[in-house]
Amino acid sequence: MVAAREAFLDGDHYRPLRSTITALAAEHAPRPSRLVVDLVGGTGHYLSPVLDALPISWGLTVDLSAAALRRASRTHQRAAALAADVWGPLPLARRTAGVVLSVFGPRNIAEIDRILDADGILVLATAGPEHLQELRDRLGMIGVDPRKTDRLRHALAGFTPIVEDTVRWRLALQHDEVRALAAMGPGSHHLDVGQRERAVDALPDLTGITAVINVAVLRRRR
Ligand SMILES: C[S@@+](CC[C@H](N)C(=O)[O-])C[C@H]1O[C@@H](n2cnc3c(N)ncnc32)[C@H](O)[C@@H]1O
Repeated sequence: MVAAREAFLDGDHYRPLRSTITALAAEHAPRPSRLVVDLVGGTGHYLSPVLDALPISWGLTVDLSAAALRRASRTHQRAAALAADVWGPLPLARRTAGVVLSVFGPRNIAEIDRILDADGILVLATAGPEHLQELRDRLGMIGVDPRKTDRLRHALAGFTPIVEDTVRWRLALQHDEVRALAAMGPGSHHLDVGQRERAVDALPDLTGITAVINVAVLRRRR
């Protein structure tokens, strides 16, 4: 999954999301900039440009996957990587992070609240209901739980959104790129490899796919 994620993201297919996250972090991060924590940061794809935009910040990717962390630790000179389960207490002191990135994956709001500095920001990215809709049924990928938005809103009751945006773009993917996209997330487990291969082979040479990601910047309510 990590190799597929790296291969797919290196193709720059999620550039609109990466640029949006970078711009929002640069615009709203507290000054002087402090630690940027990328929770379930995977290969560090989103952390690296944020560190470029915040030249005196240090970055930390937190993830459970050693394969992802190895890549994340090499992604930027000012980035380190830490193995931890985000559902447990994070080995970080209270109020240490100026910016927390939470891009897909699980999120533990109580721990985000604890590590975020008083004026710190949380940059959140979640898949919208139509995200990758053309591939979901055909490739057996997990859909977005319709109750997720309400659950998240409830969990984030202690935060105020200062920006809410939807990033929507179209991907034009060849078969290998569709394979990597399907293999890089948990949805890849719903079809066996043979079924997925046959489903990809049945696609046109170039498939148009919708990407829809909800992005928000939040601050703790004072
Ligand atoms: C969908 S990927 C997102 C990675 C990255 N944010 C990105 O968009 O490229 C989810 C990541 O969550 C990590 N993960 C899943 N459960 C976790 C947990 N309980 N604690 C820490 N990391 C976890 C996986 O190893 C994986 O790297």
